[in-house]
Amino acid sequence: MLAGVLGFPVAHSRSPQMHNAAFEALGLDWRYVRLPVPPELFEETVRALPGSDYGGANVTIPHKRAALALADERSDAAAAIGAANTLTFAGGSIRAENTDAGGLLDALGDSPSGKRALVLGAGGAGRAAAYALRDAGGDVAVWNRTPARARELAADLGVAAAENSDPAGFDLLVNTTSVGLDGRGGLDDLGLAGTAAPETVVDLVYGASETPVCAWAREGGARVVDGVEVLVRQGALSFRIWTGVEPPLDVMRAAARR
Ligand code: ATR
Repeated sequence: MLAGVLGFPVAHSRSPQMHNAAFEALGLDWRYVRLPVPPELFEETVRALPGSDYGGANVTIPHKRAALALADERSDAAAAIGAANTLTFAGGSIRAENTDAGGLLDALGDSPSGKRALVLGAGGAGRAAAYALRDAGGDVAVWNRTPARARELAADLGVAAAENSDPAGFDLLVNTTSVGLDGRGGLDDLGLAGTAAPETVVDLVYGASETPVCAWAREGGARVVDGVEVLVRQGALSFRIWTGVEPPLDVMRAAARR
């Protein structure tokens, strides 16, 4: 069987090395490839996959909303979030799920139930994080550079919109903005310079070196969950959906960090 990651661009993705290491470790006859597909060809390409050797695909920038829209079936989480990162092709139909939400909770380890969580960013990743934390019993507020987007997310998902990004009074902070990606932006852009880090900080961004948010959290003595761990956990959930087999987490983690 085949699986792949649909995105544009997709050259930077660590998913192929991670999934292929897992398939190999378990002796599964699967292969995972990069599928660079421009937006204008996305729907046509995906509709061809249920009739092919593809069993599933991950979906990344900029296709997560389109993936949900074209699916024949949607999980409750994907529908509520408004985006899908995992497609499964079976019996000629397309099923859409969102493992970014469950992956964040798995990466977090401790339950966010009863915890005050501040989500920075109101894009697709911010929606998945806010949904996951609220669904797991967290008390969630969302801050965004463009406040109208935070208010819209808050109203859609039944969470609060934060006036500012100061994490004082929160137990947990999750950065879902693109600040830190490819060395772009820093703590000033998020209003975090000079603030104290909360007990736990998750940064969905990862790169060749430590991100500004992870550095700030580490220096502030927080427990830090980095973007690679979240990538591994969402990938592990997708792997289980497609193969029905328990994912080898350590193998996937080692491959993703290579
Ligand atoms: P995704 O779907 O991956 O979350 P997105 O929809 O492009 O991607 O969202 C990117 C997020 O990063 C948004 O919350 C964006 O804020 P705006 O809504 O104000 O654009 C945030 N973001 C990007 N660059 C930023 C910067 N320099 N400072 C603060 N926030 C930034």
